[in-house]
Amino acid sequence: MKHKEILELLNKMTIEEKIGQMVQITGDVFLSEDTNSVLTGPLKNLHLSKEKIYHVGSVLNIIGAEKVKKVQDEYLSKSRLKIPLLFMDDIINGYKIAFPIPIAQGCSWNTKAIKEMTEISSMESSIAGANVNFSPMVDLSRDARWGRVMESIGGEDPLLGEIYARTMVKAYQGKNLFEVGKMASCVKHIAAYGAVEAGRDYNTVDMSEREFRQYYLPAYKAAIEAGAEMLMTSFNILNGIPSTVNKWLIQEVIRKELGFKGIVISDYGAVEETITHGYSANETEAAKNAITAGIDIDMMSGIYANHLKDLCLQNQEIENKVNESVLRILTLKNKLGLFENPYGNTNEEKEKTYIMNPINLEKAKKLTQETFVLLKNKNHVLPLQKSKKIALIGPYIDNIGITGSWSMFSDRTKNGTILDIFKEKMGNQVIYAKGCEILRQEEINKILSADGSPIVHVENERQKEQDMIASAMQTAKKADVILLALGEHYKQSGEACSRSNIALPENQIQLINELYTLSKPMILILFNGRPIELNTIEPKLDAILEVWFPGTTGAKAITEMILGEENPSGKLTMSFPQNVGQCPVYYNHYNTGRPHHDNLRYLSRYQDIPTESFYPFGYGLSYCDFKYTELYLNNHKMNKNETITVTIKIENQSDYAGYEVIQLYIQDLYGSVVRPVKELKAFKKEYFKPHEIKYIHFNIDMHMLKFWNEKLELVAESGEFKAFVGGDSVNVLEDRFEFVDN
Ligand code: GLC
Repeated sequence: MKHKEILELLNKMTIEEKIGQMVQITGDVFLSEDTNSVLTGPLKNLHLSKEKIYHVGSVLNIIGAEKVKKVQDEYLSKSRLKIPLLFMDDIINGYKIAFPIPIAQGCSWNTKAIKEMTEISSMESSIAGANVNFSPMVDLSRDARWGRVMESIGGEDPLLGEIYARTMVKAYQGKNLFEVGKMASCVKHIAAYGAVEAGRDYNTVDMSEREFRQYYLPAYKAAIEAGAEMLMTSFNILNGIPSTVNKWLIQEVIRKELGFKGIVISDYGAVEETITHGYSANETEAAKNAITAGIDIDMMSGIYANHLKDLCLQNQEIENKVNESVLRILTLKNKLGLFENPYGNTNEEKEKTYIMNPINLEKAKKLTQETFVLLKNKNHVLPLQKSKKIALIGPYIDNIGITGSWSMFSDRTKNGTILDIFKEKMGNQVIYAKGCEILRQEEINKILSADGSPIVHVENERQKEQDMIASAMQTAKKADVILLALGEHYKQSGEACSRSNIALPENQIQLINELYTLSKPMILILFNGRPIELNTIEPKLDAILEVWFPGTTGAKAITEMILGEENPSGKLTMSFPQNVGQCPVYYNHYNTGRPHHDNLRYLSRYQDIPTESFYPFGYGLSYCDFKYTELYLNNHKMNKNETITVTIKIENQSDYAGYEVIQLYIQDLYGSVVRPVKELKAFKKEYFKPHEIKYIHFNIDMHMLKFWNEKLELVAESGEFKAFVGGDSVNVLEDRFEFVDN
């Protein structure tokens, strides 16, 4: 439709129909034969009449071509103006093909890989009927206690957040939303949700505007500049005001300063939660605060549906805002081509042929391998030789549950297991024992009872545990090497999964301790959605491969990597803490006036652990040995119109071919506000043949030196700087240079 036709449509709408467009509910109500399900299912708390249900503008949690068409048909059959529904879903790391969780994808440091994963995910979900994806989540995340770090594509770094946000928005949206395989990207969560106090989900966020602009805003800004069609506000308060009703955030920053023209949707029930926060006194105020701040769609609360009309009748200003919101919503539906075809890109035929196709599964496996991070490899124990007898031990060896907690649409039965794949490749060269459960039943009960699951009691659990360990010991004794697959339960990671203890569970540590007494090489494959406390078990392990929750092709990807058919190249995007007491720990920290360097008392340190992280940001090993030498700057002084070229020599001193992520960091030695000890400014992922030497170049320009000063200006100041280059944020070569602002 032409824009003027959209305006004509808007003018035909009643106030009830307009407000309906601004309401989003779960869509299963349109599939229910029981017309009273409106009053009994999850919607009952919204107190919506059937008329209001059939006015809503969008639904969430409905996907699958047949189901989407059925819902759309049912809805349109009762729609006066035939305005199609929007279908929105959380396809955050793949639809039927579950890709690695976003934090893992970020560890690939490969925008091409992330683009490909996003495009496959977008194609699968759009032909299955999704018009909008609640992805990417770009919240900068520094605290491993927070369960949602698993969703953070950029981890603890603002530059990665920016680059990945841009990559994913463009991959979802392409040039036109109506193209098959494209969909609108809803970037989340605005804003600074990753800074929840103490890593406790939904908790308070309070920071200076300068901190917000320096670290948390860049990724959202990049997403908006990339053309994101939608933004989702976050559950937290930001400096005393819930994000969902934060006028400064939405109107001043997002709309005016960043020029965002798309739709702002609340998170699930967040408009109503402004009452619980103690900001809105009642439901009417919640409606007024939200529409005034600029919420266009109220997700899963009855506030707009039940209170916005009266406010419009009392106040023309508010009705004007409603008209603006509805115009944005109709405009997005038009961009998606829904007025011409209410089913959008939904395609049942394509759904049968494209989804989970072997070519994409093979691609997914390769992409997945780029997300693995080799944390330890003592004496090059990896890759394993096929001549060895391998004991496969642990609850993740024969387990299809290796997709993340948001992979609810993927078909886990297609995942295969590490045991299957190893047996295919090595027959009876591998022997297996489960060794332990992921969690003791009491732990599982704690987690699952929160979802309403019944408490399960296991008779003689501790005895069973001992028996499993004894059996694992017997198995391990017959092998040359032990391959352990341990980690978090996937329901310990994700939304509402904050933890005060981020070590492996006691029963898993007990298994490691017992197996360690056999003095055989022991390799850990680690499944997790957050940095894990490894300091007590690391000394007992010869190698650690971080695989996160790797998704559908994970088992095959892992087995090939362990056997050397692929070479790890991932690098951490979040620092691993010494222990949970060190959270939050991140590389781009300030120096303090008493940085810890020696064992002296009056320094910024802990008495009981080292100050540096256990594994640093940007860290990851390879089967190759990369040697960095000859850091060279072609100049040691630059002004705002000049650049400095940094060159580094890198030699692959091994017989393996593989990728290395070379990283450039910069430190501003002093400024009008203190500056971090390091900031990532550029990186290159380069392929090296065996024994190949390469000279890698970076250009430093003035823009890399900019920061937010105390007047909230983005400036580069004259002064002394250091440039660092390395394969992580700690093991670096450095040199100095001067910037003169003239
Ligand atoms: C959830 C999450 C958000 C998700 C939304 C819809 O509470 O906070 O990330 O997109 O609700 O499921």
